[in-house]
Amino acid sequence: VKVSFESRELDRFREVIADRLGLRFENSKQDELAQILFARMKATSRKEIGAYLSCLATSRDELRALAGHLTVPETYFFRTHDHFCALTNIVLDERSHANSRELRILSAGCASGEEAYSIAMLVRDCLELRQNGVTIRGVDLNPAVIAKARQGRYSEWSMRETKSEIRDRHFRKQGDQFELSEPIRSMVEFEEGNLMDPSGAFWQRGYYDVIFLRNVLMYFSPEAVQGVIERVADSLAPGGYLFLGPAETLRGISQGFHLCHTHNTFYYCRRAHDDDVMPVRRYMSSRSATAEPLAPPASPPEIQGDWLKTIRLASERIEDLTHKRGKSHRSATLKPETGRTPARLTDVSVAMDLLQQERFSEALDALPLESAASTDVRLLRAVALANTGKLAEAETTCKLLLKEDELNAGAHYVMALCLEHAGDRRASAEHDQVAMYLDPSFAMPHLHLGLLARRAEDFVTARRELHQAMLLLAREDASRILLFGGGFSRVALIELCRRELTSCGGKA
Ligand SMILES: C[S@@+](CC[C@H](N)C(=O)[O-])C[C@H]1O[C@@H](n2cnc3c(N)ncnc32)[C@H](O)[C@@H]1O
Repeated sequence: VKVSFESRELDRFREVIADRLGLRFENSKQDELAQILFARMKATSRKEIGAYLSCLATSRDELRALAGHLTVPETYFFRTHDHFCALTNIVLDERSHANSRELRILSAGCASGEEAYSIAMLVRDCLELRQNGVTIRGVDLNPAVIAKARQGRYSEWSMRETKSEIRDRHFRKQGDQFELSEPIRSMVEFEEGNLMDPSGAFWQRGYYDVIFLRNVLMYFSPEAVQGVIERVADSLAPGGYLFLGPAETLRGISQGFHLCHTHNTFYYCRRAHDDDVMPVRRYMSSRSATAEPLAPPASPPEIQGDWLKTIRLASERIEDLTHKRGKSHRSATLKPETGRTPARLTDVSVAMDLLQQERFSEALDALPLESAASTDVRLLRAVALANTGKLAEAETTCKLLLKEDELNAGAHYVMALCLEHAGDRRASAEHDQVAMYLDPSFAMPHLHLGLLARRAEDFVTARRELHQAMLLLAREDASRILLFGGGFSRVALIELCRRELTSCGGKA
């Protein structure tokens, strides 16, 4: 059926959905939304959209029914296996040794229960914990999936990542279905609940040791994400852990957590108020993405020394050329209207302009002192310091920045450059990986990690990262290339990737 509503009507519908359920729908989903709206108006015998929206505002049952049409219930046992390794080896291990009190875990947006039951199976297999009180709670908006979770019967498809010994231990085959054993089922309590509702009984201050909130925020509006994360932060005990889906991060959302990186995966630890431990190092990856241990540098044919040196040499060459060719022109464009010299200006855009022309020292002078400056200015300052060879200062600037904003992808990248220069290539690679996780569209850490791996003769990693860098560079934000590209243009950086990729056996 072709359903037509005016776009302002659909916009109102979308606003109510975002407000009540947290869910965000792009313009491309308008037709789908129109179909759902039409179906719900028919089911509730409402002829006008205004009447339907009033019904939605007051009727909990209609909200539940609508949620069933709008949510994505996709899930399976042991989804994102690395999270469960971290849960077992870090969280459960820590808690079983602490032996202090009950262990409380929330699976928020639990869908049909596979996530919560996966946790229950691991907890049950952890002998020490079995003796403690354990609470595992699953909460979801959609009543149909909660009913399915309570049943505890699953298809083979839900078990696609479940090891056979776990399947044999905890399930019983019933026709073409797998039925969970009673001891596991009884460990989890499920309830219908809306994460958008601040008064939901499942939110309890400082109550949980672990919250799984995976593959839920990706469907939410930015405002909804902010609100839910505030409630999550409030409900986690200090030192408690938060697992998000692989495509979700807290970057730009909360400073209430430390980022952890172990078992090849990322997750978060709720900060205590006085806890400002240096980020990343405390939860450093036990397995680097590059070869272990990092081999001494080979002598690659093209790139000598570290990446910063390469950038600087290239910058000097470019600066020489541009000075010869267009000094008068560039001075003219930079002449400030006030007549002050660029060195005394505190205008970030002027600093960016100078940076673009590889006039790094001048860019540095143009920036305000870091104590009074915003995060962006400090980052710019760190880049300018790194590019003028003041690496110790650049590192200090980054550390201070990360102390305030631990999830700043740019600062992690500059930190990677500084640490490479200081000879700590493992830590350098770690910061690149953190930057990549925090901002999956950020090309430069891939390029840098690719070059690090190439020098360590880890060609598999080198090829993977250089290839990814090449793809990302093609659509990388222009201002980010300007800021982090070391004076290279987009084309030059892509060319660099291509050359490096070919030299380590990859197809460019
Ligand atoms: C894609 S599933 C994720 C299931 C599981 N966490 C996983 O990662 O496999 C998303 C679930 O979030 C639920 N959800 C969406 N909005 C919600 C809200 N406002 N409150 C509670 N649950 C919500 C949906 O009903 C759906 O079951």
